[in-house]
Amino acid sequence: MKRTTKVALITSGGDCQGLNAAIRGVGKSLIQRLGNVEIYGMYDGYRGLIEGDYKFMQPKDFSGILTEGGTILGTSRQNYIPGRDIVDAEGNSVIPSMLQTYNRLNLDCLVIMGGNGTQKSAKLISDAGMNVVTLPKTIDNDIWGTDTTFGFQSAVDIATNVIDYIHSTASSHSRIFVVELMGRDAGWLTLNAGIGSGADVILIPEIPYDLEKVAELIEERKKHGRSFSIVACAEGAVSVDDVKLDEEASRRKRENSRHSTVSYEIADKLEKLTGQETRVTVPGHYQRGGPPCPYDRVLATQFGVAAADLIINRQYGRMVAIQGGEIVSIPLEDAASKTKFLPVDHPMIQVARRMGISLGD
Ligand code: F6P
Repeated sequence: MKRTTKVALITSGGDCQGLNAAIRGVGKSLIQRLGNVEIYGMYDGYRGLIEGDYKFMQPKDFSGILTEGGTILGTSRQNYIPGRDIVDAEGNSVIPSMLQTYNRLNLDCLVIMGGNGTQKSAKLISDAGMNVVTLPKTIDNDIWGTDTTFGFQSAVDIATNVIDYIHSTASSHSRIFVVELMGRDAGWLTLNAGIGSGADVILIPEIPYDLEKVAELIEERKKHGRSFSIVACAEGAVSVDDVKLDEEASRRKRENSRHSTVSYEIADKLEKLTGQETRVTVPGHYQRGGPPCPYDRVLATQFGVAAADLIINRQYGRMVAIQGGEIVSIPLEDAASKTKFLPVDHPMIQVARRMGISLGD
């Protein structure tokens, strides 16, 4: 008799749109193609694997979830020592407990869906002897080796919509609005939403900003009868002065600042520089919520099917990716070794500059 293939699904790190579509893609495709398969859903990301807290999934669990936001399995973040270990709150390695659950269930493979941090910890799990296939998910789109991640396009849609709505109120009151979008390290979301919504200024972590230059553009707009201005600002945007601070000095600055986030500091300074009333809008986790857009549903399904292919072909230690429109897979160590920052000479940056959008430099 044909041996049963045993697979566990894990969604880890910050959630995003399309996780359920990906779970469905892997599950339905494995059942469809293998028939003889046992699929376990680990609860709350790596916690389920560490504590042996899981659900034995039935075919019906993969139905009716394509359009649902979040993850039916739950998720959590795990402490990670770069390149060395995954640890609990006391600093003890949790990899042995993961291995125990893996061996007890006699698993063939873990399918791990996650962002940058998750890809790095998945590499450690793979190094510890567990078979792993990963899928790239994050609204930040900052995973190395894939042109895009699922969740990203849905977040771009939401962030664009937020700025669209801000336009009318900004215009009515002749105000400057600073809209803070997610992205601690990379500006993909802010750049795309900023261009898509017609923002006047786009500030991203990769290009340190000078507010004097931003104020100049706003004054110029006023001279041409534009009474309001919209600044799309990534949460990780940094000024030309602050970028020179070392880690300790920037931590101290953040702790002592009277501004809860960078956009409040920017708004404060712009109001002083321009004399124009300025407001802040922070959509926050709203950007990660709700149903995936059609593009993400399709991409997550494609990724899920590709993960099932890798499992069937016993190609482990790989991350599914999309490159130039083709679904491919790359070695996990490549994906885990770098962050995909927005190159400052990226064609989309050129588009923004040629449209007269200020990037703050
Ligand atoms: O990595 C995804 C992300 O949404 C980032 O854009 C953001 O900085 C971070 O997660 C927020 O994390 P948390 O959900 O833990 O507040």
